[in-house]
Amino acid sequence: MMRVIRVANYQEVSKKAFEEIKTIITVKPGAVLGLATGSSPVGLYQYMIKDHQEAGTSYADIKTFNLDEYVGLPKSDPHSYYSFMHHNLFDHIDIKEENIHIPSGEGDLLSQCELYNELLSETQIDIQVLGIGSNGHIGFNEPGTSFDSETHIVELKQSTIQDNARFFDNDISKVPARAITMGIANVMNAKKILLLATGENKASAIASLLMGIRTENVPASALQDHPDVTIIIDKAASSLLYKEKR
Ligand code: F6R
Repeated sequence: MMRVIRVANYQEVSKKAFEEIKTIITVKPGAVLGLATGSSPVGLYQYMIKDHQEAGTSYADIKTFNLDEYVGLPKSDPHSYYSFMHHNLFDHIDIKEENIHIPSGEGDLLSQCELYNELLSETQIDIQVLGIGSNGHIGFNEPGTSFDSETHIVELKQSTIQDNARFFDNDISKVPARAITMGIANVMNAKKILLLATGENKASAIASLLMGIRTENVPASALQDHPDVTIIIDKAASSLLYKEKR
């Protein structure tokens, strides 16, 4: 079942998303959170940090699993998703380093995929936070990825490299061409999904997700079969769904 919450802007998307996460960690202080990088969840992470610092909410028993990581970037590289997550969230809350899981894109990549799948099979994610690519990708599962996929190595599409160049001084040549990502089957295994999307360039992917057919050409459309999906979008991302009243 997919529930859609439409709000005015990025700030409100972040606030609503925070409310969803807060409800879960209040009921279950040892919850397992599936997390994403990119611009979409940064506002949510800021609300989590504020809540920890001002209201004392503890993340000491929380476990996290991130969706993906670039291949070939060491953890210490400022562009790695390991760095991104520490900078935008983990360094500012009381989560234990041993409870943080981010796939590694270094060393023997096949073993890294197996290791991550093994870790994921030992637990169930209570809530998986997702952004969506302008081409409908979730995690780094690009169009054409099997809905049965587990953690695997992907070649990033040109459109994804272009979208992500903004994190690499707008220099396409600096964006790694490959990534390690949870597969669609891993994502579908989460109890609850929370997908966030803002801005005009997500409108078409959101329309395909909500109104299109379930097809591997639109990886996010796999979610149509998930029992508990909440999609929080702003006006711009929903602009192909509604006709505005004047
Ligand atoms: C990030 C990830 C990607 C992003 C997507 C949207 O871990 O897996 O699927 O969620 O590319 O990115 P933003 O939020 O930057 O528009």
